[in-house]
Amino acid sequence: MPQQVSERRAQRLRRYWDKHARNYDKQIAFWERRLFGDGRQWVCAQAEGEVLEVAIGTGRNLPHYPAGIRLTGIDLSPAMLELARRHAQQLGLEVDLRLGDAQALEVPDASFDTVVCTLSLCAIPDQRQAVAEMARVLRPGGRLLLLDHVAAAPRWVRAIQWLLERVTIPLGEEHLRRRPLHQVQAEGFEIQRHERTKLGIVERLAARKPPAATLPQPGPAAGP
Ligand SMILES: C[S@@+](CC[C@H](N)C(=O)[O-])C[C@H]1O[C@@H](n2cnc3c(N)ncnc32)[C@H](O)[C@@H]1O
Repeated sequence: MPQQVSERRAQRLRRYWDKHARNYDKQIAFWERRLFGDGRQWVCAQAEGEVLEVAIGTGRNLPHYPAGIRLTGIDLSPAMLELARRHAQQLGLEVDLRLGDAQALEVPDASFDTVVCTLSLCAIPDQRQAVAEMARVLRPGGRLLLLDHVAAAPRWVRAIQWLLERVTIPLGEEHLRRRPLHQVQAEGFEIQRHERTKLGIVERLAARKPPAATLPQPGPAAGP
């Protein structure tokens, strides 16, 4: 059973992101220039078919998707989603935008060809659950595309990240030392492309969900 964010925690997160929505584009543009480079283009260029963007935020990836995909975006924050809606309108794009929880996606199993998640596995309370949900909603052979900031390679930078987390986690559930790659591998994905830059802080990866025949089979049903 997917473990959704508890109602209290969800409300706190929603308040945080609703409050920060107005300034988000300006703030993240700074980090895009300094850290993430062409990460959004790298991710979006590989998307195809039915695409689900998890925690779509203000829709900063929208300009980078190729023509011909059908995009659904979910986010926990109504204010972030409203900005994504305006952004899509400005670009003349049709996007199905929904309020939702990355830890308990309200979409059927195996319903997307591509799942995209950028700069958000650092902000979702239970990233393990979120990656499991991404795996569930992808069709066998479908693609998972991630971009995020993660634990740095050098130990001294990780120590600084640890210190920063004393503030960023209580404030806005912002984790700096996660390694989504490990969750993706644990879900049985085949890693196709994996790049780390900026002292290992920036990670982007493309992974394929194995075809049905090679997926781990559920164990025998428990007896009465
Ligand atoms: C740092 S912003 C990233 C937004 C966007 N993906 C981007 O690349 O700019 C993190 C986003 O994650 C969303 N978020 C956090 N926890 C979530 C959850 N459990 N389910 C859905 N969205 C969530 C927030 O509302 C916020 O929009």
